[in-house]
Amino acid sequence: MRIGNDELKLKPVTFEGGSGGGVGGGVGGNKSRRRKKTRQHKKQKKTAVRTLFLACEDVFSTDDPETPLSPDKVAKIRSRLDVMKPEDLNLSPSLPYFGNPIHETHTNSAVTYIHLFESDHFSIGIFCLPAGSVIPLHNHPRMTVFSKLLFGSMHIKSYDWTVADDSKPHLEAPRSPLRLAKVKTNAVFTAPCDTSILYPTTGGNMHCFTAMTPCAVIDVLGPPYSDYEGRHCAYYNPFPYIPAEVNNNKEKSVDEYALLQEIEKPDGFSVHGAIYNGPSIFHD
Ligand SMILES: [Fe+2]
Repeated sequence: MRIGNDELKLKPVTFEGGSGGGVGGGVGGNKSRRRKKTRQHKKQKKTAVRTLFLACEDVFSTDDPETPLSPDKVAKIRSRLDVMKPEDLNLSPSLPYFGNPIHETHTNSAVTYIHLFESDHFSIGIFCLPAGSVIPLHNHPRMTVFSKLLFGSMHIKSYDWTVADDSKPHLEAPRSPLRLAKVKTNAVFTAPCDTSILYPTTGGNMHCFTAMTPCAVIDVLGPPYSDYEGRHCAYYNPFPYIPAEVNNNKEKSVDEYALLQEIEKPDGFSVHGAIYNGPSIFHD
């Protein structure tokens, strides 16, 4: 989903609190033991979000940010996200972004985006959804996206194009082009659950989120949206599609396919920006 610079002009904020708590270094022993203890000390001090950021810097460091990720690179990001918890990011359902009406700039259905980082190669951010809020169906052109549900329950419906490399509409409607897509996911996810990953042409590249309860999702996009690079966020309306060849099983076909019509950004859908208040991604 597009979080454009015009909508969000936020910079990462370093976290001033919560320091300390490190493991005390021992004294004595030989040099190698001291080095090992120092390495362990540094390793233990790294926060989950710092570790994720370093993994992203490593994985997304190729010259062409649209280069498909190898399985080991995918696994590297996934492993960092799989273990991430709300407290690693200073998040909790009691924050105003999740439907608490005392926050005057947020309605109960507004979605909040907490920006952590963006470069030409990847971005990291957190979507905060009050119960009942919706992030409408949208795409991720030529992008790989890692999404980790931190808390709450969320219905996700996702699609992939049936003809992935077809830039033209699959079918023509009287007014607007429609293109055939196959449902990839149509289920409710409840945290804690594994990281979900979508790819440029598979994994459910177009998806819609509906918050069943207040929930938070951390997203890693590689590369980020870029109008300049042709990675524009499009929104869609789904329409039922019943293939003629499976007309004898209409229920199944309706569940498995849809015709997607590109639309303007839906009226009433807006995303508020919020300042990140968790541990710094830039230092231990
Ligand atoms: Fe998305």
